[in-house]
Amino acid sequence: MNHIIFASKNKGKIIEVSEILGEKEFKIVSLLGLDIPDIIEDGSTFEENAKIKAQTIYDNFRVPVIADDSGILVEQLDGRPGVYSARYSGESATDKENNEKLLFELENFPNPHKAKYVCVAVFYDGNKFISAFGEVQGEIIRDGKGTRGFGYDPFFVPVGYQKTMAELTLEEKNKISHRSIAFNELKKIINKKR
Ligand code: IMP
Repeated sequence: MNHIIFASKNKGKIIEVSEILGEKEFKIVSLLGLDIPDIIEDGSTFEENAKIKAQTIYDNFRVPVIADDSGILVEQLDGRPGVYSARYSGESATDKENNEKLLFELENFPNPHKAKYVCVAVFYDGNKFISAFGEVQGEIIRDGKGTRGFGYDPFFVPVGYQKTMAELTLEEKNKISHRSIAFNELKKIINKKR
């Protein structure tokens, strides 16, 4: 069994990624409960930020690390919040505050508010980085629905669905999400190399 650290304290992400990678091939350990200072994500792209997280955690523990950086890009907002999705309304913003800011920013734009979720997943074993990319298209609605998922999920309706991401079950979200596309691809590449 291969121990891999998933460089995240985000419970929503940890649940999704553990399910995607499965327990048979990987023993995933997250940063929850570990005394790790917040990592400064000052890259200008999702990939740079994912690599910063992976490198920082590898340097601390010297075991293989996976990390991701993800966010939502809204067409009418020229791709914002993008890499700032987690801290759109300030450094320690809650999901609720970020969603409120997003709806406020979109107030004067007509429907549909086209958007996409993007994720870059990275593996680092001290040797070299492997990266994989995923995205899912959809739109932002004003009346949030659903209690599952996290972040912007109650306001994001994927293309081809009549439900928000927060109304989908974990299994349903993991069939289509940006994160599942990126991590399934990463898993394929890692397994090929073993
Ligand atoms: P990260 O931890 O720096 O990658 O921050 C990603 C941020 O993007 C999250 O805190 C959410 O605000 C948003 N985000 C990324 N993926 C999702 C998702 O699957 N659902 C909802 N929000 C997401």
